[in-house]
Amino acid sequence: MLDTFDRKIDYLRISVTDRCNLRCRYCMPDGEIQLLPRSEILSYEEIIDVVQVAVAMGIRKVRLTGGEPLIKRDILHLVSALANIGGIADFGMSTNGILLRQFARPLAAAGLQRVNVSLDALDPERYAYITRGGNVALVLDGIDAALEAGLTPVKLNCVIKNSPDEKDALEVAAFAREKGVQVRYIREMTTAEGQFWPVIGGHGGHCVSCNRLRLSSNGLVRPCLFSDLAFSVRELGPRRALEMAVRAKPLSGAVSQNQFYEIGG
Ligand code: 5AD
Ligand code: SF4
Repeated sequence: MLDTFDRKIDYLRISVTDRCNLRCRYCMPDGEIQLLPRSEILSYEEIIDVVQVAVAMGIRKVRLTGGEPLIKRDILHLVSALANIGGIADFGMSTNGILLRQFARPLAAAGLQRVNVSLDALDPERYAYITRGGNVALVLDGIDAALEAGLTPVKLNCVIKNSPDEKDALEVAAFAREKGVQVRYIREMTTAEGQFWPVIGGHGGHCVSCNRLRLSSNGLVRPCLFSDLAFSVRELGPRRALEMAVRAKPLSGAVSQNQFYEIGG
């Protein structure tokens, strides 16, 4: 699919849930968060249907995100159903890694190709602070499990305040070097203020070459992370929702009400 700016749109990021087993400070607001009612969340049948249509329209890269995809019930069922569609050249997942030790092998067996793991700090206290209670030892073990299971190349996503030279980021970089994995640095963004930056070492945020669409867990196809444009697969059907999102994809974003845990970053 080509959009109106001749960008080839071949990447679909799918948020399977807005729920998470962490509460990262930059992602989740303080206190109670408004979660989507279960009835609004797409079923696996609906997601599979959207992906079948999307692949027929030229999507070649699919990534499962959240919230945290590994807390979703029967996620392996979805992974294997999507892998069986055929035609997806690159099939990955973004995870916080807390549950990766248990899931790495079964995910690989189900047909997932690779994982990106969020890791913002190595120091256990700093990690617990940033994630409001997470245990970094589980993530490090999860990264080993992913490497052992062949979910490679494993990439680390590291959110930074301003620069990759911050202490936490340098420690993550040293760890990554030791493990032989890549790190991408993502500057902390506030969608509501329209602050967004290119991912350092990755593709995100480079509007001129943006190839993505997003499917939120409640079935909205969003052409841009930094825009409120959204097309419902339940209201329009997958084909029209995807087509309309591609046609509406802006040259670059501005501001939006989107929250990361709702749309998966
Ligand atoms: N700024 C930048 N990236 C964010 N993510 C979540 N919230 C933010 C934010 N405010 C991204 C990070 C994280 C992933 C789960 O979502 O990449 O690793
Ligand atoms: Fe969960 Fe990821 Fe948000 Fe952290 S950034 S709260 S791990 S969805």
